[in-house]
Amino acid sequence: MQIVIVGAGYVGLVSSACFAEFGINVTCVDSDSERVRELQEGRIPIFEPGLEDLVRRNTAAGRLAFRDRLGGAVGKADAVFIAVGTPSRRGGHAADLSFVQQATRDIAAELSPAASRTVIVTKSTVPVGTASSIEQIVVAARPQLVPGRDFDVASNPEFLREGSAIEDFMQPDRVICGTESVHAERVLRELYAPLNLRNLPMMFTDRATAELIKLASNSFLAMKVSFINEMADLCEQCDADVEDLAQGLGLDPRIGPRFLRPGPGFGGSCFPKDANALVAIARELDIEVRLVETTIRVNEARKATMANRVLEAMDGNIGGKRIAVLGVTFKPNTDDLREAPSLVIVPKLVEMGASVTAYDPAGTAAARMLPQFRRVRWADSAEAALRAADAVAVLTEWNEFRGLSAHRIADLLREPVVIDLRNALNAQEMRNAGLRYYGVGRGRLRLPPP
Ligand code: UDX
Repeated sequence: MQIVIVGAGYVGLVSSACFAEFGINVTCVDSDSERVRELQEGRIPIFEPGLEDLVRRNTAAGRLAFRDRLGGAVGKADAVFIAVGTPSRRGGHAADLSFVQQATRDIAAELSPAASRTVIVTKSTVPVGTASSIEQIVVAARPQLVPGRDFDVASNPEFLREGSAIEDFMQPDRVICGTESVHAERVLRELYAPLNLRNLPMMFTDRATAELIKLASNSFLAMKVSFINEMADLCEQCDADVEDLAQGLGLDPRIGPRFLRPGPGFGGSCFPKDANALVAIARELDIEVRLVETTIRVNEARKATMANRVLEAMDGNIGGKRIAVLGVTFKPNTDDLREAPSLVIVPKLVEMGASVTAYDPAGTAAARMLPQFRRVRWADSAEAALRAADAVAVLTEWNEFRGLSAHRIADLLREPVVIDLRNALNAQEMRNAGLRYYGVGRGRLRLPPP
């Protein structure tokens, strides 16, 4: 089979490499010629474990090619995936579809029903109704083409998580396809056949429902995170332990154990954007989605109060103090800082008069470019950041921080204050090493040891 993927961003690149690994011929197209050149030379512009190897291997095998324009590739393709960005529109929260619309016009110009009845598939997260509007754009550009006869439009939202994107693509919980023709369904089934062989659930529904499943999934998961964060606040006040609470909750299979880790608030390119997009869509349709609206508000408020935890742990004396910040990315195993809690917490600490030395295993280069970190000093290891600091705040749960020994932390710090906003460190070990350890939602740990 032959496919084109428009967009060499996160979703486009991972999907291209993984489909090529299935043995499909993939042309990945991006209008950013610099990015395309890098990819052609085997350099991967994003940090994603395993991706570089997959791209190199499939490029060498001749199954994966990068281009800066379609150049006739659509006419021969069984399917063209649109995987371009759909950022939140400035001022509002509805998604900006201009890249999707431009990609559609480019694709429409090359559709060739005589050669193959191409299926246009949206992989980008898009508002409900986008598949229909893509159909309309194609027909407006090429009035002689009839949808369902000369071309099809389908929705196939992507659920991959940064940091485990390849595994998520290769071993998904589900593949959701919104199709409105037998042909589109057949093409998608064939493309995902290598997964189906392993008995993975593939669900077919109409296009609007598929589009909504993506937004509803991310909103629900975001809601789970906001829920456990509120429970963490409650635990702190009644000397309970949120880690045990989450475990107890998760043992009920109706709730499940995942996405119940308390922290400084969710970030990333999807949860905040998709929850906001869902609210924007509902508003337009005069429907109230109060749970999702509240989830967003709870999360914003949470990020905003996190710096106060550092202040309190330091007994209100933060002016002139040196704080080591470990982790600035929105989660581990990525260099992505979009909507990261650190973007709110670090400037607040600086505003309070602290001097911040930060370390992140992958996010430093990106963070250095951001105004929020203008006054931050960067260390090249966790230990270097900790040396002679008056307190350490863990903002992202990178594995290498989990490995820091409590005694080493105690030796390096000038004052024994540890604020662990991810519950990544072993609280008991920290306390045994004489550190004043503050986790999230661990009220019980404030009590003196029995
Ligand atoms: C998410 C979805 O999981 C994925 O299916 C979708 O395709 C894109 O959005 P991603 O943004 O990469 O993936 O990260 P994810 O692991 O879901 O975490 C999102 C945010 O929630 C992070 O800031 C993370 O730290 C936070 N989170 C997650 C928690 O605070 N607690 C949890 O228990 C889980």
